[in-house]
Amino acid sequence: MTQTESKTIDTLLEETRSFKPPEDFVAQANVKDPDVYQQAAADPEAWWASWAKKLQWDKPWETVLQWDAPYAKWFVGGKLNASVQCLDRHVAAGHGDRVAYYWEGESGDTRVLSYAEMLAEVSRVANGLKSLGVEKGDRVTVYMPMVPELAMTVLACARIGAVFSVVFAGFSAASLRDRIQDQEAKLLITADCCWRRGKVLDLKKVSDEAVAECPSVEKVLVWHRGDGIESQSPAQERDVTWEDVVLPQSPECPPVSMDAEDLLFILYTSGTTGKPKGIMHTTGGYMTGVYSTSNLVFDLKPKTDVYWCTADIGWITGHSYIVFGPMANGVTQVMYEGAPNHPGPDRFWELVAKYKVSVFYTAPTAIRAFMKWGDEHPAKHDLSSLRLLGTVGEPINPEAWVWYLHHIGGNRCPIVDTWWQTETGNIMITPLPGITETVPGSATKAFPGVEATLLSEEGKEVGVGGGYLVITKPWPGMLRGIWGDPKRFEETYWSRFPGCYFPGDGTKRDDKGFFWVLGRVDDVMNVSGHRLSTMEIESALVDHEAVAEAAVIGVPHELKGQAPVGFVILRSGFEADDALADTLRKHVGTLIGGLARPERVLFTPELPKTRSGKIMRRLLRDVAEGKVLGDTTTLADPGVLESLKQGYESKES
Ligand code: WTA
Repeated sequence: MTQTESKTIDTLLEETRSFKPPEDFVAQANVKDPDVYQQAAADPEAWWASWAKKLQWDKPWETVLQWDAPYAKWFVGGKLNASVQCLDRHVAAGHGDRVAYYWEGESGDTRVLSYAEMLAEVSRVANGLKSLGVEKGDRVTVYMPMVPELAMTVLACARIGAVFSVVFAGFSAASLRDRIQDQEAKLLITADCCWRRGKVLDLKKVSDEAVAECPSVEKVLVWHRGDGIESQSPAQERDVTWEDVVLPQSPECPPVSMDAEDLLFILYTSGTTGKPKGIMHTTGGYMTGVYSTSNLVFDLKPKTDVYWCTADIGWITGHSYIVFGPMANGVTQVMYEGAPNHPGPDRFWELVAKYKVSVFYTAPTAIRAFMKWGDEHPAKHDLSSLRLLGTVGEPINPEAWVWYLHHIGGNRCPIVDTWWQTETGNIMITPLPGITETVPGSATKAFPGVEATLLSEEGKEVGVGGGYLVITKPWPGMLRGIWGDPKRFEETYWSRFPGCYFPGDGTKRDDKGFFWVLGRVDDVMNVSGHRLSTMEIESALVDHEAVAEAAVIGVPHELKGQAPVGFVILRSGFEADDALADTLRKHVGTLIGGLARPERVLFTPELPKTRSGKIMRRLLRDVAEGKVLGDTTTLADPGVLESLKQGYESKES
């Protein structure tokens, strides 16, 4: 860890405010007995099995866990279907009329879907998929906006045992293409269009561009958004429509009984090296993980709660805490298509008041934006229905935490700061809202049954202080591998500290034993809660004809947490001017997606390198943050840095 990073930690740990769960919250909490931690720790397998038992199994398991590190098998021999947990069992229990989703389109159109209606629609989609020849084990890529059909689609895949892979609708054609190619998907499901901040996104056009280079794709199933918007991309021979394929189907489709370890989905996430990794999750363990954490962390009361997670289903948060976790609990949810500031900066609060949202889960980057937009926007609306707030995706700065408590939570709602990853499948470090005294900026303690600790560089356990976060025991929702790349799976997560899962996050533990997850220790950055690899962006820059070499770093950003900045060496014959910098920023946006577009691109004749030719990103970070330069003794040419620094500062003014 660098000197500056440890300074930030110390500032954070000066935080002394702490908040006890309010008494009236405790009185009604799903878990009030702090003993739960000891009970789970005494026999984690029994703890997880007690949660798995609450699901509906077609065949019980024979063995809870087979652990051949780093390969885990949970609930071995058991059979179940993930969609049954989310739909059939609620309908069978007489809750079919309960609202599953209140959906709100960005332009104000609305829909309400009950659990019984969701079951019928999911079955129609599942039958439609079967009519297209999709079978158990086939991969289906899903590139759709935040509409109920996206939730229906993933549940329909689960129902027939097809492996779904959702690609966030903000990703570019090239990113979509790479993912489809990697998983050799048979079918792509997309929408023609959607709304985003008042603009029409033409998803079909992006899909067509991607599929042009994906020979595995036999058909493209297109859902029509309506609301007067249409794709500009002409129909292709491989296209089939939702109207033709799904709507005429029967609303009944028997679920396929899946092995607990059968693959449920693949979700791509950025790693240290260029190519995104296809993280694999299986059925029984994942369902147990998301069901139990939704229940305890969000304290869900299916009869009365209205829960809203503002993430997109294109990310793991949406998979686990919009689709599978909350639906397995049978709770009512709000789903929203668009941006938090469209048409106005109070859109979220208007929706909280309209639907009487009681549990609200969002990202620190959104909270920082709300703070900037002004206190008057939440103040205009009645937020008294809220009883619990959550955050996820990145460290939350204490100011944002306290603002959230005060302006959104009316000083009465506990806040759960939840740490987890695409790979972990479910929440891993979090307060339990009826038990844990919270401190702004700390995700507090490992969820019951999860064993987390800190290790030093040498692999020694750190009691109080800074180190690397590791998970020392397997858990049901853990990733089972990287699609097509077992070696990378073993190296990335299991080689740094043998026998332990290494998430890649630098963390501090305070004298209460609370964890403070501070950020990545690898070349992954966290931009508005989204993971991006510096290498991915560097490759995108180098892809442009003007660029000879590029280095990308993440710099602190007031709203986004971190923002990418690119340092570029041009090929001869290209003019280093603002227009080219802008072209390069846009080029990255086109190749990866808008979220990866660098905040700034700076031209330089040289990059700081070690004598063996490795770019020293640490020094670039120091330059960008205007810090006293760290250790430069290994630099091949120390002069490079001084000129970089001058160049950066002159641009800043
Ligand atoms: C970061 C998102 C601090 C962390 C669910 C992790 C956090 C990465 C928190 C995973 C938190 C997530 N506090 N950092 N509460 N939650 N992170 O895979 O660096 O998109 O490794 O999963 O986000 O991002 P991913």
